[in-house]
Amino acid sequence: MNLSYVGKSVKRKDALIKVEGQSLYADDYVFDGMLYAAAVRSPKPRIKILGISDAKAKKIPGYVTLITHKDIKGAKQWPIVLDDYPFLPEKEAKFEGETIALVVAETLRAARMVAKSVEIKYKELPFQTDPLKSLEKNALKLYGSDNVFSKFIIKKGNAKAAMKKAAIAVKDEFSTNYQVHGYLETQCAIAVPEPGKLMTVHSTTQCPFYVHDAVAAVLGISYNKVKIIQSVTGGGFGGKEDVPALVASHAAICAVKTNRPVKLLYDRKEDFISMSKRHPSWSSVSYGADKNGKITSCVIKYVLDGGAYSTLSPIVLWRGAVHAAGPYKIDNVLIEAYAVATNKVPSGAYRGFGQPQIVFAQESLIDDLSEKANMDPIDFRLKNILSPGAKTSTGQKIEASCGLKEALLAVRKNSDWDKKIKAKKSSGDKLKGLGVSTVYYGVGLGAKGKFLDRAGAYVNVFRDASININVGNTEMGQGALTVLSQIAAESLNAPYENIRVQEVDTSKVSDSGPTVASRTTLMSGNAIIEASKPLRDRIFSTAKKMLLKKGAKSAVVMTAFQGVFSMGGKKVSFKEVVAECWAKRLKMGEQGWHIAPNTTFDDKDGQGDVYSVYSFNANIVEVQIDKETGVIKPVKMTCAYDVGKIVNPVLAEGQAEGGSLQGMSWALYENLVYKNGKMMNPNFTDYMMANTNDKPEYDIIFVEKFYDRGPYKAKGLGEVPLIGMAGAVGNAVKNACGARIKKVPILPEAVWLNLKNKNKGKAK
Ligand code: MOS
Repeated sequence: MNLSYVGKSVKRKDALIKVEGQSLYADDYVFDGMLYAAAVRSPKPRIKILGISDAKAKKIPGYVTLITHKDIKGAKQWPIVLDDYPFLPEKEAKFEGETIALVVAETLRAARMVAKSVEIKYKELPFQTDPLKSLEKNALKLYGSDNVFSKFIIKKGNAKAAMKKAAIAVKDEFSTNYQVHGYLETQCAIAVPEPGKLMTVHSTTQCPFYVHDAVAAVLGISYNKVKIIQSVTGGGFGGKEDVPALVASHAAICAVKTNRPVKLLYDRKEDFISMSKRHPSWSSVSYGADKNGKITSCVIKYVLDGGAYSTLSPIVLWRGAVHAAGPYKIDNVLIEAYAVATNKVPSGAYRGFGQPQIVFAQESLIDDLSEKANMDPIDFRLKNILSPGAKTSTGQKIEASCGLKEALLAVRKNSDWDKKIKAKKSSGDKLKGLGVSTVYYGVGLGAKGKFLDRAGAYVNVFRDASININVGNTEMGQGALTVLSQIAAESLNAPYENIRVQEVDTSKVSDSGPTVASRTTLMSGNAIIEASKPLRDRIFSTAKKMLLKKGAKSAVVMTAFQGVFSMGGKKVSFKEVVAECWAKRLKMGEQGWHIAPNTTFDDKDGQGDVYSVYSFNANIVEVQIDKETGVIKPVKMTCAYDVGKIVNPVLAEGQAEGGSLQGMSWALYENLVYKNGKMMNPNFTDYMMANTNDKPEYDIIFVEKFYDRGPYKAKGLGEVPLIGMAGAVGNAVKNACGARIKKVPILPEAVWLNLKNKNKGKAK
């Protein structure tokens, strides 16, 4: 197909306003009579609340009011999955930093001063911070009868029996720490009461419809009285997925009580201690194989530290569990997965959504197993990976769109793996090594989120041929506005410049689910195509009539390319055609709706067609290790992706580079420290993240295995690049220095200790 815009690196729609600093983020908005709110937070990991006093606050100029759970007119619990998180707690606060009350003042400064002056009378309660302890029989009870928010079992064949029969086997335990999203823009919401008891909220969010649900619930008013407008969002990565709903609800309660607009803006420390993070994890993984190196069995126990409230833990755990065995053909699989309560910040969504943690463990052991099989790690993977027709651990047959083998072969070739893997590891004061990982990724919400897996679009063609589009998925930096504009331009044969896709306003489009799970191109893209179909018919048939009138012969085929229609040497522009459509009073606005194809999951044994389609990825990371200090430097990443058709190559490459750097950062640098239930380093000085200076050389490759049900045959990319990085980094460290580090972040001290012990051994 000769495509006009899809597959081309057209310029980002929001490039200029962002680089020129013109974008209006939530905190940039100011409304007449606007007040400022601030949160009063729990000082301890677990307390019984005995009283809240604003006696001192009353002396501070500008103080307006104190808001507690008593001010909530609607639902007391935030509706997400299990609804255990109170909007404001009445009797007990369960983690350090939990919002207990809110204060409102005339200025931001006053609000924050007032918040500090509010006195909470409390009794400290015993608390628990270790998820494995929470799972013990006699553990302190924090949630239900067993502290388990959610658990899943995936059972295929007889994994334990097969493990006993295996010719070679490996088993180990792994753990991973938190990851902080580090979005540049902290959480912020402005609630604006409108006449007639209506509420409009401006929110920095990935998921305006989650915000809509929460605000309507907390105020106890109908959905049509609430409007959520997404402000330009300065980064999300999962951190603007569920929690903005809490921030917005708090702002809304304040706005109702004061009947004035209220802004609630978090500072960075508040954001660190109270907003969602990647779940810390613990896992025990074993694999068995026959004497030819064919994997026969996989047994995994996977535990996620959910923190004080369940929020998104059940579905994060589910994605992790169904992918846990890895992208391999294995007849016998047993996975038990638990999300557990502790008295720490509630963990939630972060790019990869429960996959990166278990992939680190699982890909580390696949390397160890290949070593036992005396095989090259890539040869070993090639023997075992999923291919079209093969079945996953949930018994799902992989479709034709599967380029995992091609991806693995591409990174092998481009990285010069075969030569480098055998090369000498020591060079001067450095050790060199390289490691591989392979990943599969179910695109979209899958069987556990299928009722949310729909998306709408409204396409409106104006008389001047400019086009407005309302969709339900958000731009958060990933390029959605641009990619969706390309899809719209392509389907209407409209010039790309004519398209405007708007930030989400929940009053302008039906609930399209969350903007997560790499689903936007696929879902909103298909919804736009659906909306465009009748418009396209009208535009194309009008164009044809105009060309015939101009003297083109009817036997010739009309072509449509980059906003021009041509037939038999005659041409007519999109603009002229649209003017004619309007002159004929044709309907030039249409709705589209797309639902993900049906998916299944059996809670008994975890079997089913759990996702509509999968993306695939292979990574090779090369590292250098300083012999003296153990410092690990990633030098090069060679990454290949099968995410179907690439809609915008430059944006896709950006997603790939950003995601893999974020994964490397988690693997090597990011180390959030909790001591006795208190977060010790909630700031960018003491919590380190990779920045652009740390970026290695990249070689990004796209293997396009077309997906017939995708928009112009695309699948999904956003989360994929992060998932396999820690596994590949761990394998590279092992290749360089022989040490299998089983804990993320892989800190220099762990490597250093290992090198020191090895040298000691040699000296003896
Ligand atoms: Mo997400 S972690 O924004 O699916």
